[in-house]
Amino acid sequence: MEKIIDEKQQGNSLVIEPKKQNTRKLFIESYGCAMNFSDSEIVASILSKEGFNTTQNLEEADLVLVNTCSIREKAEQTVRKRLEKYNAVKRINPGMKVGVLGCMAERLKDKFLEEEKIVDLVVGPDAYKDLPNLINEVEAGRNAVNVILSKEETYADVSPVRLQSNGVSAFVSITRGCDNMCTFCVVPFTRGRERSRDPQSIVEEVNDLAAKGYKEITLLGQNVDSYLWYGGGLKKDFKDASEIQKATATNFAGLLKLVAEAQPKMRIRFSTSNPQDMTLDVIEAMAKYPNICNYIHLPVQSGSDRILQKMNRLHTREEYFSLINNIKDLIPDCGISHDIITGFPTETEEDHQDTLSLMKYVKYHFGFMFAYSERPGTMAARKFEDDVPEEIKKRRLTEIVSLQQEHSLYRTQQFIGKTVEVLIEKESKKSSEQWSGRNPQSTVVVFPKENYKIGDFVNVKIKNCTSATLIGEPVGLSENN
Ligand code: 5AD
Ligand code: SF4
Repeated sequence: MEKIIDEKQQGNSLVIEPKKQNTRKLFIESYGCAMNFSDSEIVASILSKEGFNTTQNLEEADLVLVNTCSIREKAEQTVRKRLEKYNAVKRINPGMKVGVLGCMAERLKDKFLEEEKIVDLVVGPDAYKDLPNLINEVEAGRNAVNVILSKEETYADVSPVRLQSNGVSAFVSITRGCDNMCTFCVVPFTRGRERSRDPQSIVEEVNDLAAKGYKEITLLGQNVDSYLWYGGGLKKDFKDASEIQKATATNFAGLLKLVAEAQPKMRIRFSTSNPQDMTLDVIEAMAKYPNICNYIHLPVQSGSDRILQKMNRLHTREEYFSLINNIKDLIPDCGISHDIITGFPTETEEDHQDTLSLMKYVKYHFGFMFAYSERPGTMAARKFEDDVPEEIKKRRLTEIVSLQQEHSLYRTQQFIGKTVEVLIEKESKKSSEQWSGRNPQSTVVVFPKENYKIGDFVNVKIKNCTSATLIGEPVGLSENN
């Protein structure tokens, strides 16, 4: 599963510290999940060594790269619209080259070159190290495509350039790809087999971020709970691993411990968790280490056992409830969010009611809700007719969104009168007099700036709330500073 970045953050272009000797200008923007944003930082790092500085000004770019998402049809349409915009700019600046990266590149491959004449370069998520060669090809007047997926590539040896960073929170990728094959999901096809990154390189990256003053990291993967390091490569290639390899293997709970102990003051988050892979030892590690935030993004997709099975989500509703109960037992104040899809093929009114009742049981802090969008090539597209009419999908989606709003308000109201620790991330969008940050449960908190600054951990007494935001007064710096 992928955590989709706040819609408002999508499509932002990114700028890095310019290198003086660099003369070429790269405009790079990202759509979709956090992994894409993180990958763009890897791409910027690779291209910085090739003489590219980033620019936020599309008109002056020598190279435009768009990191794309295929998760729903709408995400692809957004990218097509951006290509139209690039086309308009290319008329003024004919030397500009345009490349498509990420999931759409992988899904459409060289078909992209036929469909969108403006595209010079198509590069899949595992081929970014080949960008220097591919760009040479393009500069020699030839189109270039590399969409080869890898079983090993983790970019562990590329030190990402932190793009558009507030200097406070950063993503650290820990796994790539997904082996789960949920029937609706295009990710296993666009991002390939699951592989885990060397824990040592992860800890080094986190230490480096701490040294640069970062205060929060999010460990990223499509399915972080299946993180497993046996000493290299694809975990399934190690079926016959020796006992020694097994004894020294690091699973996700082990990785959390390593990171939490390496940087006890760093806030640690992770995304995304998959119910069937989340083990008790992960919850125990969260309970044990105060710097691991009490927040889990735990997509469920549906509350109906019949639909869960058709989705190939390898757990039942009851098993999901036991997981929720375990989380609540060990971490009573844990924030939990979800992803839900409405209108999966054959979904009946009864299935939909099951989803609503599951939501009522959990009372999620917040969630990300989507109408089913058939993706070509997926198992669902091949096996099931997309038979729930659009207006029914939409109506169910509206019902789910409004129930979630009730629950979100219930959750935010529980914080009124309490003091929570907030890491200041940025100025509030609504007022230049207020800071905005999040509490450990990942709920946004705004409060008067006073003399605090970005990157401070502040104790904030909550006075008021909306369903999405806590509003409070600062009572002092927290001990964590
Ligand atoms: N249609 C609608 N939503 C989807 N997601 C993944 N694939 C689809 C699809 N085909 C949602 C899931 C996933 C989130 C990242 O996107 O809820 O968890
Ligand atoms: Fe997530 Fe399932 Fe897609 Fe993997 S296949 S990315 S677990 S939704």
